[in-house]
Amino acid sequence: MSETRTIAPAEGKLGVLTVGLGAVASTLIAGVELAKRGQGLPIGSMTQMGTIRLGKRTDGRSPLIKDFVPLAKLDDIVWGAWDVFPDDAYVAASRAGVLEQGKHIEAIADVLRDVRPMKAAFERKYARNLTGEHVMATTSKREMLNGIRADINRFRDEKKVDRLVMIWCASTEIFIEPGPDHQTIESFEKAIDANSDQVAPSMLYAYAALLEGVPFANGSPNLAVDMPCLREYATQHNIPISGKDFKTGQTLMKTVLAPMVKARQLGLTGWYSTNILGNRDGEVLDAPENFKTKEESKLGVLEDILEPSKNPDLYGDVFHKVQINYYPPRGDNKEGWDNIDITGWMGYPMQIKVNFLCRDSILAAPLALDLVLYSDLAARAGLGGIQEWLSFYYKSPQVAPGLYPEHDLFIQLAKLKNTLRWLMNEDQITHLGREYYDETD
Ligand SMILES: NC(=O)c1ccc[n+]([C@@H]2O[C@H](COP(=O)([O-])OP(=O)(O)OC[C@H]3O[C@@H](n4cnc5c(N)ncnc54)[C@H](O)[C@@H]3O)[C@@H](O)[C@H]2O)c1
Repeated sequence: MSETRTIAPAEGKLGVLTVGLGAVASTLIAGVELAKRGQGLPIGSMTQMGTIRLGKRTDGRSPLIKDFVPLAKLDDIVWGAWDVFPDDAYVAASRAGVLEQGKHIEAIADVLRDVRPMKAAFERKYARNLTGEHVMATTSKREMLNGIRADINRFRDEKKVDRLVMIWCASTEIFIEPGPDHQTIESFEKAIDANSDQVAPSMLYAYAALLEGVPFANGSPNLAVDMPCLREYATQHNIPISGKDFKTGQTLMKTVLAPMVKARQLGLTGWYSTNILGNRDGEVLDAPENFKTKEESKLGVLEDILEPSKNPDLYGDVFHKVQINYYPPRGDNKEGWDNIDITGWMGYPMQIKVNFLCRDSILAAPLALDLVLYSDLAARAGLGGIQEWLSFYYKSPQVAPGLYPEHDLFIQLAKLKNTLRWLMNEDQITHLGREYYDETD
């Protein structure tokens, strides 16, 4: 008999701290508030709309996930945020231009006005296309770290929340690779005191969250919590962490189409992906150092899915290019094009074209909600360290050192749902299905 797992109930208020109160965060907050009032459906959110099959296909048990696992209720969420701009969630949502002003912003104006960001731990060198003034009055990394910790504790006391989750919804920072400063807590502490360039604000937020026992999820590709010392700290202290980079548009399509190409043993010679995007995210990513962080996150996917070394005839020479072009007229409504050159029987070439006219934050907000609720669930279930079962939501899933990430969306989905079954002491679903054909007495 395997061990029985227990999950602490989701009692009391859940404080959700978003780093960044831009397009994604304001769309998340507004959407949840609208859904709570029955003024919109939380489409795209597995925790709110998804079902899960339990037992055999003939058992007829497919409850809603929110009725199956003890998740925090939307009514119990209390919002907090930091941003480089002083705009409250009402102004942020209006400026972002994602939601309809009359129908989806004015309708909940009072609640949105109440979400006022705390001053950001920010330095321009990490996102030079941003010029907000609503920042902590210090450039000392130690003081920033202490400032974030004080903010967390003040928020906890003032809002009387029982649990907290922090989610990075702020701009993508410049590219930094894990180096000597990030190896151990001692080296990281020293780097903080030395004001090392290698300590970006996202790392300070992540570290502050962990020091306060708060789960951390990272919606952008910068390192934040994805470095050896913070990974180890989170594991040792049993705090859930996950990242990186919400898997919303083009990469979502890629992680569905590439496994299909591979599953059918079709060859691939090239994959050209380009986007136009006109929101502030696009503006920040217009700086090459910031785009590099995003590019790394987007490029890794194909290689991990196709595993060229295992099948060089099919995937040994793939030309993969990803571009994001800042184009203000489109605002948050991104347009992505993919040209995919594949080969079939006897090497004959074929092409797939994808033109995805998506809405960036409309796709990202439900992922952010699920990540918040699942991170809180993980904490109550005693799951610390990297939450690989949340890979489903990320472009560059954080995995244990030495493991390659699983990018295939449907493997990620199976992993997530099996984790929920496991948490709730239900049988795993392997899809073997012999039981429907074996003779039984
Ligand atoms: N929307 C999507 O589909 C999507 C997908 C994947 C990843 N992301 C990532 O999510 C993040 C948010 O996207 P967005 O469209 O909301 O961007 P946005 O520019 O509208 O919002 C980001 C906000 O973060 C703030 N900010 C920057 N640095 C900060 C700091 N150190 N502390 C506090 N606030 C800070 C900015 O002032 C801005 O208001 C970006 O990193 C983006 O790359 C978005």
